[in-house]
Amino acid sequence: MLSRLKPQKCARYVKTIFSVLTETNRYRCLSNNSPSCEYIRQFISENTEIAGEQSLTPEVKLRLFTPSCRFWRERPELWPFDDPYWAIYWPGGQALSRYLLDNPGVCQGMSVLDLGSGCGASAIAAKLCGASHVVANDIDSVAAVATCMNCELNGVEPLVCVTDNMIGSEPKGFDLILLGDMFYDEGLATSLHSWLDRCIKTNGTKVLIGDPGRPQFQEHGIQRLLHQLAQFELPESVKEENYGLTYSSVWYYHPQLRTGENLMHFLK
Ligand SMILES: C[S@@+](CC[C@H](N)C(=O)[O-])C[C@H]1O[C@@H](n2cnc3c(N)ncnc32)[C@H](O)[C@@H]1O
Repeated sequence: MLSRLKPQKCARYVKTIFSVLTETNRYRCLSNNSPSCEYIRQFISENTEIAGEQSLTPEVKLRLFTPSCRFWRERPELWPFDDPYWAIYWPGGQALSRYLLDNPGVCQGMSVLDLGSGCGASAIAAKLCGASHVVANDIDSVAAVATCMNCELNGVEPLVCVTDNMIGSEPKGFDLILLGDMFYDEGLATSLHSWLDRCIKTNGTKVLIGDPGRPQFQEHGIQRLLHQLAQFELPESVKEENYGLTYSSVWYYHPQLRTGENLMHFLK
């Protein structure tokens, strides 16, 4: 199963899994007392382990795939949902969350969107740092349930989880957009890039990107408009699981920023 989980394969819209989750795309995790939601919670509990201590943010607990979970090695066709990207804590998201936790002022009092939130770690980090409002957006409805469970693990109030595809939509006025490991597909990167520009132009939104140096990111035109804020060496187990990736970085994207300008001024 694990070998099927390559971020490159993830560029597809979510398929309907449970009607109760898709009847309303806007799914608030608080309202998870429907039978279907309970079923997904149960499934996640049985097929993940509480982990996270081997990541760059050991203080954040997450329900993830570990080697002792059945589907670590199980045939992927037995998995009943869409590919579970939410069951992996990706290196880009790890760096981004580490950066936020080390620099809580970046999201304190801010309204924050974690786009492609997966397990919800960066959204949870933002909340732990005092963000006033956090939305976790992932087109996989199961990710919303996993995020809700991960909030509970960390003593964080359930976040608003949105399963619409927000890329291309009218910018919603977030102060900060977080993107952890979202530049794994060229088409997705390009639509994301032009939508980010609209968000910045319309609302002055700040954008932070976490990426471990994936080719689709390094070769993308967005590169020349990025400013590196931090770089982290990945823990050994994360290196092993990510086939040769050794570092993960956090970048500030601001098309108007010229080389030499004071980054801290823009991040305030
Ligand atoms: C590589 S994972 C990264 C997850 C998380 N940010 C992390 O770093 O651990 C990419 C995630 O983006 C989600 N995704 C893909 N396309 C999306 C879109 N258009 N809008 C929102 N989420 C999307 C996938 O379902 C998946 O959970």
